[in-house]
Amino acid sequence: MMKSSNNFKGYSLLVISLLLCLGVRSQLTTDFYSKTCPTLLSIVRKQVQNAIKTEMRMAASLLRLHFHDCFVNGCDASVLLDGDNTTEKFAFGNINSARGFEVVDAIKSAVESSCSGVVSCADILAIAARDSVLLSGGPTWRVLLGRRDGAVSSATQANAALPSPFEALDAIIKKYTDVGLNITDVVSLSGGHTIGLAKCGTFDNRLFNFSGTGAPDSTMEASMLADLQSFCPVNGDSNRFTALDRNSTDLFDNHYFKNLVDGKGLLGSDQILYSSDLAGSTTKSLVESYSKDLKLFFTDFANSMIKMGNISPLTGSNGEIRKNCRAVNS
Ligand code: HEM
Ligand SMILES: *[C@@H]1O[C@H](CO)[C@@H](O)[C@H](O)[C@H]1NC(C)=O
Ligand SMILES: *[C@@H]1O[C@H](CO)[C@@H](O)[C@H](O)[C@H]1NC(C)=O
Ligand SMILES: *[C@@H]1O[C@H](CO)[C@@H](O)[C@H](O)[C@H]1NC(C)=O
Ligand SMILES: *[C@@H]1O[C@H](CO)[C@@H](O)[C@H](O)[C@H]1NC(C)=O
Repeated sequence: MMKSSNNFKGYSLLVISLLLCLGVRSQLTTDFYSKTCPTLLSIVRKQVQNAIKTEMRMAASLLRLHFHDCFVNGCDASVLLDGDNTTEKFAFGNINSARGFEVVDAIKSAVESSCSGVVSCADILAIAARDSVLLSGGPTWRVLLGRRDGAVSSATQANAALPSPFEALDAIIKKYTDVGLNITDVVSLSGGHTIGLAKCGTFDNRLFNFSGTGAPDSTMEASMLADLQSFCPVNGDSNRFTALDRNSTDLFDNHYFKNLVDGKGLLGSDQILYSSDLAGSTTKSLVESYSKDLKLFFTDFANSMIKMGNISPLTGSNGEIRKNCRAVNS
């Protein structure tokens, strides 16, 4: 009797430790600030609302900041740190491109004036990204919180971790699997390109002499190609902006995926999800599913955002709560 009771205890302990181990990946909770900053969510919502009222594109910019933060060294607000040209802001994907830093400063100072010194910049980015999607007409989800801010910001790391619009599908997939995401996440999160803008320099490789073929990318639909060839001429201004989703630029919907089916993806990395020989059945069929089923896209996008927000957070006594999102505390 004694023995079997001990066995039972031992077994329970084993199960509990296993559960704790599995739980380590997700120590974040939705109610992390319910005592220390009960008004947090409404403060951030209001600030994002204000920013979007001034400039609708800011929703896209804030969403992208959270993505770029999480892929490099985990969601630790590393992308927000100012510094010399070795910091993340100077990586290829960020320089002259990542934006919204002033809005994050404004959110942080509004949060600080209600609850000083308790809310991390990494959590502010996660909430602002969720609100940006929702306020653009997209899905919502309960944001997991409790991240702390890191001290490291490296352009080299960011260059290695962030996917590039010129990469092949297998290389892009690897960058997601490297951070614990899978092919469903690749496709659903790419749907973030249903809002926001991109510069000619990020897709003009497709317009005239694609991969040294002497011809444009044959997977681009003809009228869109003609339009972009005149918008982004050879030797033109590579910093001119155009919409990632030309159908409904400011609306978070599934038109991004309808575009891919029609050959109207803007970036090479968008269109290959549907058109690459490597797309095989998986990414192509997900694109097709999302193009037909808005609800499925919204559900998968929300789940993937939660997964992305869970990439290697600093928790407990690791990291710090930055006073100023642009600098580590002294
Ligand atoms: C294969 C992966 C990805 C690549 C190669 C990629 C690449 C790019 C590029 C080149 C731009 C235009 C930047 C510029 O011209 O300044 C852009 C914009 C954007 N990206 Fe991505 N991206 C990827 C995944 C994602 C993900 C996962 C999200 C969010 C869930 C996202 C959200 C956005 C948004 C919202 C914009 C517009 C930003 C604005 O207008 O300020 N992207 N992306
Ligand atoms: C960064 O700045 C240093 C010092 O100003 C300079 O020597 C170096 O070339 C710069 N590196 C890059 C990648 O721009
Ligand atoms: C990716 O992971 C999610 C769970 O996070 C799962 O539901 C989905 O089926 C996975 N996708 C693939 C292609 O394995
Ligand atoms: C296209 O690019 C390739 C490789 O860069 C180059 O050799 C070729 O001359 C270019 N073709 C045209 C028509 O510009
Ligand atoms: C967007 O797509 C819908 C069909 O899905 C079409 O009726 C509408 O004209 C398109 N709008 C633009 C601006 O292309």
